[in-house]
Amino acid sequence: MQIKSKSPKETQKLGQELAKKLIGGEVIALFGDLGSGKTIFVQGLAKGLGIKRKVTSPTFVFMRQYPFSIKKFPMTFYHLDLYRGQNDQDFEALGLEEIFAPDTIVVLEWAEKIKKELPKKRIEIKIEKVNDKTRRISIAGN
Ligand SMILES: Nc1ncnc2c1ncn2[C@@H]1O[C@H](COP(=O)(O)OP(=O)(O)O)[C@@H](O)[C@H]1O
Ligand SMILES: [Mg+2]
Repeated sequence: MQIKSKSPKETQKLGQELAKKLIGGEVIALFGDLGSGKTIFVQGLAKGLGIKRKVTSPTFVFMRQYPFSIKKFPMTFYHLDLYRGQNDQDFEALGLEEIFAPDTIVVLEWAEKIKKELPKKRIEIKIEKVNDKTRRISIAGN
C-alpha cells in the first residue's frame, strides 16, 4: 500500500490508524533518510496506542520503552533508533530476542542496520521525501 502524506500531521495520523490494528507481537521496521518523518510516524503510533508520554527520538540511548495496554492487558511499546549503532556489540546489548514478544510492540528506526536479526514476520514502512512537505509512505507485510 502506498500513500502520500502532505504534512507531518497526516503522517502522524497514518501512525495512529496503524496503531488501531495492532494486537501485540508486531515488529514494525521503518526505513527512510534522516528527516523523512520516521519519528513523526512513531509519535502517531504511540498516540494511537494511548501512550500519553511524549515520544522523542531515542537517538542517544537507542531504545525507549513505554507501558500501555490493549483491552486492559499490560503491554510495552519499544521505540528503537539504531542510527548511531555501529557494531554487533551495540545491537547485541539491546537484547532483541527478549523484546520481540506477544506483549510488546516494537518499532525500529534504521531497521536496515539489523535486518538479519529482524523476525520474518514484520511490518515494513518506507518513507521517502518527495519535497519539503510531501512524503511517499509505503506499508508492506503484516
Ligand atoms: N509529510 C510529512 N511527514 C512527516 N514529516 C514531515 C512532513 N513534511 C515535513 N516534515 C518534517 O520532516 C521532519 C521529519 O522529522 P523526523 O520525524 O524526526 O525524521 P526522521 O525520524 O525520519 O529522521 C520534521 O521536521 C517534519 O516537520
Ligand atoms: Mg528519527
